[in-house]
This record gives sequence, C-alpha cells and structure tokens, in this order.
Amino acid sequence: MDLLVVLFSGIIIKIVSEKLPSLRIGRLEAETPIVLGGMSSGLTRSSIAAAVANEGGFGTIGGVGLGFSEKTKNHRDLIRTNESELRREISDALEMSNDGNIGVNLMVATTDYEKSVKIAVEEGAKYIVSGAGLPLSLPEMTDKYKVSSHKKPELIPIVSTARAGELILRRWSRNDVIPAAFVVETPNTAGGHLGVSDADDIGKNEYSLETVVPQLVKTIEKYDYDIPVIAAGGIWDKADIDNMLKIGARGVQLATRFLATKECNASQAFKDRHVYNIDPIIVMKSPVGMPARAIENDFMRRLEAGEEIDLGPCVNCLRVCEHRESRVLKNQKKIEKLSSFCIIRALYNVHEGNVENGILFTGSNGNRLLTDWENEVFTTAQVMQALEGTEQNEE
Ligand SMILES: Cc1cc2nc3c(=O)[nH]c(=O)nc-3n(C[C@H](O)[C@H](O)[C@H](O)COP(=O)(O)O)c2cc1C
Repeated sequence: MDLLVVLFSGIIIKIVSEKLPSLRIGRLEAETPIVLGGMSSGLTRSSIAAAVANEGGFGTIGGVGLGFSEKTKNHRDLIRTNESELRREISDALEMSNDGNIGVNLMVATTDYEKSVKIAVEEGAKYIVSGAGLPLSLPEMTDKYKVSSHKKPELIPIVSTARAGELILRRWSRNDVIPAAFVVETPNTAGGHLGVSDADDIGKNEYSLETVVPQLVKTIEKYDYDIPVIAAGGIWDKADIDNMLKIGARGVQLATRFLATKECNASQAFKDRHVYNIDPIIVMKSPVGMPARAIENDFMRRLEAGEEIDLGPCVNCLRVCEHRESRVLKNQKKIEKLSSFCIIRALYNVHEGNVENGILFTGSNGNRLLTDWENEVFTTAQVMQALEGTEQNEE
C-alpha cells in the first residue's frame, strides 16, 4: 500500500510499505529477488552485473559472443577471444561486487557451450543460467570441470513450459542433481530468442507466466523438491513483481528494463535507438530456427523485402544455423541466394552503434523506455530502487 507523506513545501516522498522478500538460489542468498537477465553479445558485461549484485540482486553476465569483433575471421578466433573475454568479465564482476552474486547466462545452441561452462566453473561464477535449448547435460559438464578452489556454480535452467521443467528434473535427478532454481521465460513478452518453435504460439495463454509459473510450482511439489521459480518476460515495475510473487514465483528476471541504464554495456547509439524508438516491436525468425523479439529497423525491412544480406564470413557460432547451411549450398551452386543472416554479426553491429544494420533485440516493453528514460540517464541503482519500491521521488 502506498503511503504519501507530505514534507515541507511540496516535497513528496513516496514510501511503499511492502518490502520484497529475499531470494535463495541453492547456497546463494540475495536481499532482493531480482535477477538481471543475461543479454549476450556484450550488453550485460561486468559493470551492469556487478551493479545489480551490489544493489542486492543477482547479476548475470551474458556469456555468449563476448569476444566477437571485426578482427574475428574464423571459428578459432571466435573461441579464443570469447574465452579470454568471458574469463575477464567474470573475474572483474566478482571483484567489482566484492565476491557478490555473479553468474553467467550461456546458450545451449552455441558451438562453444561446453567450453564456456568450463570457463564459468574455473573462474568461480556463482551460478549458470542456461537456455536456448534444454540444458540436459549441464550437471555433467560442471562436474567434469570442477576446480577445488571454487564451489560449483548453482545451475538454473530456462524453460517456457512446465513440461520442459519436468523433463529436466527427471534427467538431472538420475545423477542426483536438482536445479537450484528455474527461470520460466514467456515467449509472449520476453526479449531476444523465444522458447517456442512456432511463432504462431506466441501470445497464447498456455505460454503466459500466469499459466506456466503455477504449473511448474505444482510439478516441483509433485516431486517433493524445494526449488524456487523465477518469472521472466514483460516484468516492468513493483506491481508486476508483486503479481508474480502472488502466483508462486519466488523471484523475477528482468532484462529490457535495464537496457538503457548507465552501466548497461551497450553503445550510446543502441540505448538511444531504444529510448527514442518509434518503430514497432516485432517477432522475427532467427537463423537459430527460433522466433525472436526485436525492434523493426531498416535491417528487418530489408529482410522482409527478401533482400540477400551478407554481413561477412561465417565463424560457426551456432550448432544449427539456417544462414550457415545456405552459405554451404550457395558455394556448391545449389542455390542462388543466401537465406536468413549472420546472427553474431547482426548483434555485434547494433551493439557497436550501427543500429540500422543488425538486430535490435528487445522485450515487449522496449517502447516503455521512451517514456521512462527521456532526457535522463538512469543508473542501475535507481532502477533497482524503483523496482523495490524504495526510491524517493521529489515532486
Ligand atoms: C537485448 C536482449 C538480449 C538478450 N539476450 C539473451 C541471451 O543471450 N540469452 C538468454 O538466455 N536470454 C537473453 N535475453 C532474454 C533476457 O535474458 C530475459 O530473460 C528476458 O528478456 C526477460 O524479459 P524482459 O526483457 O521483458 O524483462 C535477451 C533479452 C534482450 C532484451
């Protein structure tokens, strides 16, 4: 309940009385149940991850594509630079947060997935959040690479249905492992790649957080486990967080809300493209074979018009990639035109500020940054305080 206390000449301080609960994930505890959604290709590096952890949340580094640059000529370059960048970001974030709750988001669909898991374990990441495919073998991988100087990371799969959650529970429990938490990410509102194969499923009630979170909580109870469920997708403010807690989630994961913060590692052009965006937010088909949510820009319009887009040589970043397959077929002269586009280059371009020549991933709330951020730079601390309902608004 809001209590407005009027102080002196018109200064109003808004105090929201109900404090958010803390969140335990395995052995980790955070004061506030807010997890930063990992945003890869360099959007969530150490500075924002540490800022969220320092504000009492869980700070996730997007662990994919960190080392990619114009100098990346082939797969070997990609693996080598990703490795050194990921190591550096984890150790910097741990240092900047005084050994805080720092984790890494890794995508099953990438070719260097296992290598990245190894690095996360070796560098002492506190947790691994993993989706874009079911992370069925993640426990075996972390076991294989465990180092005595670090505790094993807590493992957090991302799912979009309770059925996928149950599959992971069954598979992991064969080795006596259970997830430290689940992230339920709804394709209806989340940003980036969406966890359904058919774009026509997006928007269906069966994929809403209101449906899937209680279903997964029940599934977990059926197995007699105590595993927190973290809701993700379209969560914007404290009222949204309160609603998620009411339906059984114990935490929330947010990404889009942090996109334009001072500490977010995107270029200023990327942030401005969000803040001043007037284009619609659309669902497009990614070369991974999954739909993805993004801002419609010139790149999207060229794709839509059927233009062949060749952003540069393939560095073999994904296990399954429509664009790579089409390059092979084109070289063999079996087709005339490349299909889809190179995703790592498209993400890199926008991240570096070339915002009309790549994909601008965003959540369904991407346009709300327009009203919230105009003419002002928000820090991660301000966003965290707003989410917790502890910010002081002077009017
Ligand atoms: C720009 C952007 C990049 C993202 N990159 C990743 C990623 O690399 N891996 C992943 O699992 N999720 C990714 N996501 C999804 C977020 O981590 C998060 O779960 C989701 O966007 C939550 O919804 P929200 O953005 O409405 O808060 C990305 C989201 C955005 C907006």
